[in-house]
Amino acid sequence: MIVVSDTAALAEHLSPLRHRADTIAFVPTMGNLHDGHLALVNQARAAADAVVVSIFVNPMQFAAHEDLDTYPRTLDDDLSALRKTGVDLVLTPSADDIYPNTSARHTAIHVPKLGDALCGKDRPGHFDGVCTVVYKLFRLVGPDIAVFGQKDLQQLLIIKRMVADLSLPIDIQSGATQRAEDGLALSSRNQYLSASDRAVAPLLWQTLQSCGATLTATPDCEPASIIDPARKTLEQAGFTVDYLELRELSTLQLVDSVDQECALFVAARLGDTRLIDNIQLAASS
Ligand code: PAJ
Repeated sequence: MIVVSDTAALAEHLSPLRHRADTIAFVPTMGNLHDGHLALVNQARAAADAVVVSIFVNPMQFAAHEDLDTYPRTLDDDLSALRKTGVDLVLTPSADDIYPNTSARHTAIHVPKLGDALCGKDRPGHFDGVCTVVYKLFRLVGPDIAVFGQKDLQQLLIIKRMVADLSLPIDIQSGATQRAEDGLALSSRNQYLSASDRAVAPLLWQTLQSCGATLTATPDCEPASIIDPARKTLEQAGFTVDYLELRELSTLQLVDSVDQECALFVAARLGDTRLIDNIQLAASS
């Protein structure tokens, strides 16, 4: 496994890789790798001849008050985990390398509507940061395939839209959400949870499952009559709910029935830790 820490070295090592590999799959990450990331890497390895992973905590997708400085950085552990999964090339660039010659303002990619709802509303500018860095990484790595997790379903839908709108020749594949045994979606931010909050956190997935099952079983029912009590259950358990919403997948518009491909999206905070999750729902017949 080759590890490069700047984009010039990346270019140097990519040409021999391209020579021997017909297809390259790419998995962008912010590091602090867990089994969710590694499942995407395994999927990438099964889909292509060579796998490139990036580890870059992207300042552009964090707001000033967010956790950029404290975001867990565990490069040595990450590299040993990647070595075991058979990755060919790892890029660990610096912020100066990814954003050269920039002061506060620089070119950004904005995906309207999809990027403005849900987390885009709560975290203004977040998805511009995600799209811009992912576009740049795509340009630098030039993959045939890129793999993203369904855990961040809104991010996945936005990247797919960006790739379609900008005619990028990249097949975007998605990997299922990996969960702890109690159902909590794996996330680098779970380690911020206190022991008592960690004990409460699985209620998020339990609520999505029960709410999703009821919404699918009673498609004629007004969703608010199912979602509002579920939101109250979360709040009574100690969550501050940013959103719990049923939205259609192609536009992320709110829907009032599970009669099309949609998902129930949740973002909720326990203490200072913001957790997100989702469940995809399809009409029962
Ligand atoms: P990060 O949070 O490190 O996630 C990297 C990839 O792992 C994303 O595609 C994410 O959806 C996926 N992932 C995270 N937790 C997962 C889980 N429990 N199961 C399956 N996949 C999971 O997402 C980002 O980084 C950044 O926004 C990035 C795309 C790298 C741009 O900076």
